[in-house]
Amino acid sequence: MARIIGGLTSSHIPAVGNAYARKMFEDPYWKPFFDGYPPVHGWLKENRPDVAVVFYNDHGLNFFLDKMPTFSIGAAASYENQDEGWGIPTIGTFEGHPELSWHIIEGVVNDGFDVCSCQEMAVDHGFTVPVQLFWGDREENPIKTIPICINTVQHPLASPKRCYEFGKAIGRAISSFPGDEKVVVLGTGGLSHQLDGKRAGFINKEFDLMCMDKIVDEPETLAKLSIHDLVREAGAQGAEFILWMAMRGALGDKVAEVHRNYHIPISNTAAGLMLLETRA
Ligand code: DHB
Ligand code: FE
Repeated sequence: MARIIGGLTSSHIPAVGNAYARKMFEDPYWKPFFDGYPPVHGWLKENRPDVAVVFYNDHGLNFFLDKMPTFSIGAAASYENQDEGWGIPTIGTFEGHPELSWHIIEGVVNDGFDVCSCQEMAVDHGFTVPVQLFWGDREENPIKTIPICINTVQHPLASPKRCYEFGKAIGRAISSFPGDEKVVVLGTGGLSHQLDGKRAGFINKEFDLMCMDKIVDEPETLAKLSIHDLVREAGAQGAEFILWMAMRGALGDKVAEVHRNYHIPISNTAAGLMLLETRA
């Protein structure tokens, strides 16, 4: 059966796409951010996952306010990167794994999650920035991907608890796939940030660090937060933390924290990076 070996989290700030394209890894502003990633590159080299299941949020590229599914799962052979307006260089096409996608879709629908299946799906910075940060040049480091999009744009949003339970259903589906794939699950976006309105620039370090601590061994505590709690404590766009909750749900009961980095600010955002390993 396919096996989930770990979980990764990363912010997806578009400005990172530009800094990456310009190789600004040693620039004093960017260095403390990029320096978080090499330990994860080492772990990926050692553990060689075959598939990345990526919980991400679309920012108006695939879905707009007129049609907004809560949960959507990619079922395509490939996913093209398009820029929805930030002007970051596009980075080509990402290989999919349609058989595993359909197995996951069947599993979660039977489990009570009525998802939108997408045989065509373009991916924006919410997906591409984290995948690029972890895998870099995909010719050198090939990885199959399955994008799973959760609405964080148009309220009402699914609660942290609902996303945690959705992640558990995804985890059960992956673990019952008749293959020998090693899978990593990504929770992208976050941590605290607000891009608009009176609180633009809002960051809450204390809340972020509490979330990073509790997501390891006490995700159930975080699942008690409401969307309103998240928006108040982490900012309007900090609600992207529901994507981390979905990732954590997929990993199962026991995990070990292997690495983390927290840096504020990058652009308007608190950048959070974690590597969690699954434990039997
Ligand atoms: C920024 C953060 C985001 O999550 C996003 O989607 C766009 C921009 C930022 O901090 O600039
Ligand atoms: Fe975002």
